[in-house]
Amino acid sequence: MSYDALFEPITIGNMELKNRLAVAPMNVGYSAPDGYPSDHYLAHYATRARGGFGLITTTAAMVNPYDWAGSEGMNPLKFTDYRYYRFWSEIIKAIHYYDCKMAIQLSPGWGRQGHPNVGRPDVPAAAPSCVPLCMDLRDYFKKSKGNITQLSKRVPGALEAMDIDGLINMTDEEYFSEDFQQFLQDTLSKMNPETYHFIWGDVPRELTIPEIKDLEDRMAVQAKDAFNLEFDAVEIHSPHGYLIHQFLSPKMNKRHDEYGGSLENRARFLINIIKKIREKVGPDKPVWCRLSGDELQPGGISHDEQCQVAAMAKDAGVNAINVSQGSYEAMGSAFAPDGEGDFTRWAAGFKKATNGLPILVPNFLTPACAEKAIKEQSVDIIQLGRQSLADPFWPVKVKTGREKEIIKCIRCQQCFSEFGASHFLECAVNPVTGREKYFPELWLAGTKFGDRLKKALKKMEGFPQI
Ligand SMILES: Cc1cc2nc3c(=O)[nH]c(=O)nc-3n(C[C@H](O)[C@H](O)[C@H](O)COP(=O)(O)O)c2cc1C
Repeated sequence: MSYDALFEPITIGNMELKNRLAVAPMNVGYSAPDGYPSDHYLAHYATRARGGFGLITTTAAMVNPYDWAGSEGMNPLKFTDYRYYRFWSEIIKAIHYYDCKMAIQLSPGWGRQGHPNVGRPDVPAAAPSCVPLCMDLRDYFKKSKGNITQLSKRVPGALEAMDIDGLINMTDEEYFSEDFQQFLQDTLSKMNPETYHFIWGDVPRELTIPEIKDLEDRMAVQAKDAFNLEFDAVEIHSPHGYLIHQFLSPKMNKRHDEYGGSLENRARFLINIIKKIREKVGPDKPVWCRLSGDELQPGGISHDEQCQVAAMAKDAGVNAINVSQGSYEAMGSAFAPDGEGDFTRWAAGFKKATNGLPILVPNFLTPACAEKAIKEQSVDIIQLGRQSLADPFWPVKVKTGREKEIIKCIRCQQCFSEFGASHFLECAVNPVTGREKYFPELWLAGTKFGDRLKKALKKMEGFPQI
């Protein structure tokens, strides 16, 4: 079967993509201390560029340099200033050898979903309002059994202390009782701090208006520098309950000033960021934002409101919308669900609200489901998240009729769960994932990049020892 629709080129701003296949932004956990992208990143992304993807978006890279960024969770990347640029420049060069484009996902912070800074544990993370994160483990455990199984292997003892089935069936009264909440806190704090804060947030402090404006400016400066560095596009990280989403959400934003209350006010942070980026980078560069289609939580931002945000974002100057769903508090049911095609339901609303801007959507496994989504005309770019971890060569296999050879993602959530135990990401069905650095033949052989290096190497060989 041919899947021609997946291999049609598409233009976003002044960027032309050779096909409709993108690697979704994913924190693969390979950052070196202080948020530098390690060589693992280069090899990981280069392997996927070699595998035929037309676009790779990095994981969220933090532009917030402050102790209150709340950005210690899950070993994130940073992109706060020039110290990070030469490492990225090397990665971008490698990716461009494969005719693949690279977007950077820029984030102003984790806010209430963040961890305290390791060096300054006394400094709380800053967020729109002092509303702490509290993930309902009943929902998480109900929808993510695979995740728990993996996590239990990594954190021996801790989860056995809980009666998981009993927990899933608890009433609100039992679950939120003081004794049980204390038990949860005690048990979770025995696990590593990453897992603890991921589930149970500290109380954040409220951001001041000068701090908010400073973050808006920093997003614009870093976006401009990203383009100077030859990133092809900038994605604003505004889904999943992170800082920008916290402003958008009536559940998380309780402010009474110009950044809270009405939707227009809650969207102000995002819209100012877009306008400030546009002012700095000009009209043509591809800039888009990622939005949760719906927060999927009581009191959270709804799909209808997110469509209005998408329309405002378009007016402010974005060229596309990347779709996701949920927040940490809707993790089990939303963030990375089993099966495929779940996120496609938000595409038509965003398409309509933005008068036809290109829409990027993740959560695919098979080319048939991806092709169908493209043909239905609300989805323009297919993003593979976990499936691209399982098989970096998915595009070339599909294009050359070797679909049967695709290594299928089994939705076991091992990739995701490794974070909970401070590990590099791993994939249950592909042991090379995360270790591409040790197999350059995988991503160098038979490529322009490899040929160029090989030629140079020849000139350096054969000299006697003197
Ligand atoms: C390990 C892992 C890390 C992720 N990190 C990010 C991230 O940094 N930024 C982001 O916007 N989404 C992130 N996501 C969400 C993915 O982009 C994607 O929306 C999600 O995995 C669902 O798509 P899939 O079914 O194709 O995996 C992450 C997902 C996984 C599994």
